[in-house]
Amino acid sequence: MTPISNAAKLKDGIDWVGFVDWNVRDFHGYTAHRGTTYNAYLVRDEKTALVDAVKAPYADELLGNVAALTELSRVDYVVSNHAEPDHAGVMDRVMEALPNATLVANAKCLEALGRYFDTSGWKTRAVETGDCVSLGRRTLRFVNTPMVHWPESMFTYVPEEKLLFSMDAFGQHYATSQRFDDEVDLSTVLSEAKAYYANIVMPYGKQVAKTLALAAELEIDWIAPSHGVIWRRHPGEILKAYGDWSVCRPGPKVLVVYDTMWGSTGRMAEAIYEGASGEEVEAVLLHVRRCDLTRIATEVLDAATVAFGSATLNREMMPMASAVLTYWKGLRPSGKAGFAFGSYGWGRGGPEAVHACLEGLGWEILREPLRARYRPSPEVLDECCEAGRMLARKAREMAGAT
Ligand code: FEO
Repeated sequence: MTPISNAAKLKDGIDWVGFVDWNVRDFHGYTAHRGTTYNAYLVRDEKTALVDAVKAPYADELLGNVAALTELSRVDYVVSNHAEPDHAGVMDRVMEALPNATLVANAKCLEALGRYFDTSGWKTRAVETGDCVSLGRRTLRFVNTPMVHWPESMFTYVPEEKLLFSMDAFGQHYATSQRFDDEVDLSTVLSEAKAYYANIVMPYGKQVAKTLALAAELEIDWIAPSHGVIWRRHPGEILKAYGDWSVCRPGPKVLVVYDTMWGSTGRMAEAIYEGASGEEVEAVLLHVRRCDLTRIATEVLDAATVAFGSATLNREMMPMASAVLTYWKGLRPSGKAGFAFGSYGWGRGGPEAVHACLEGLGWEILREPLRARYRPSPEVLDECCEAGRMLARKAREMAGAT
């Protein structure tokens, strides 16, 4: 068996047995700059439970880590909190290797796993919110958290340890040899948690708010998510951050996003940015072909106001501008205000198409599209600059800044 790597003891008899994926960069389209981890946990008591698994093809590493701590035949339960393949993709290998294990999951998870695998020969136990499995001195208590972020998503809580296995919630795509939040730079962890929330969880803010209400009923000292580091020193910080992110709480921040063809829309974007950045707000300027969708989605999460620009190409917006807005349509960043801008030549279309998308997001539209024909004149650039100042004033007002 592969020797245990980056092992970590959470508590006596509770160990991390997952896999650190330093090399992944494309996580189904999410740009994971820092790689990720697939966290699985082994709870050894009178009975032994494996909580969650890892992504294929890392079954050998997971099973090697488990085997370094106990005989595989002594694992009584495998808890599946989430059926997505980065955590359950090796469940067939796991159930084959652990001959005495019963798979514990809610009905939706069992149904999903039955679509991925032939589960007919597996011992299974369906659980619902409030159900418990006693391991001896410790208990596993289950809490369904539907649509955070799949229908079958579930928390497993260990009341005797005040420890929450929170599955994807509160996670980060962050590969590190360290396992705990107090061993790494907190601002980096929170930054990666924010990117994770924006790109994976943002569409489900209402469900997150319900889940936070459930979590508030639990005494929680430790939060052990299925990606990234474990929150043992700063669980309050990540719970508070999720409260803000669940409502897309706006900060005093202006986001300018654009694509440009021959520089005209780019010059307009810079003028809007220059107007905003002199007004005591954070101003962010992103060219859609110079950064990735993941970063752009992360920046919109806590922006109050947004100017989105595109040049006109074939009477439409440019393709990567469209990709961003399509991504945002699914992510549903809410409660923003903004406007469209861009250039055109002999036929209009770019800014108008952006304007329609911003309306479709349900945002407050602050003005008609700001346009330039071929090149922005000094008068148009002055108008852009003033529009940037207006965005900043609005952002401060929305954020409640004094
Ligand atoms: Fe990390 Fe939703 O899987």
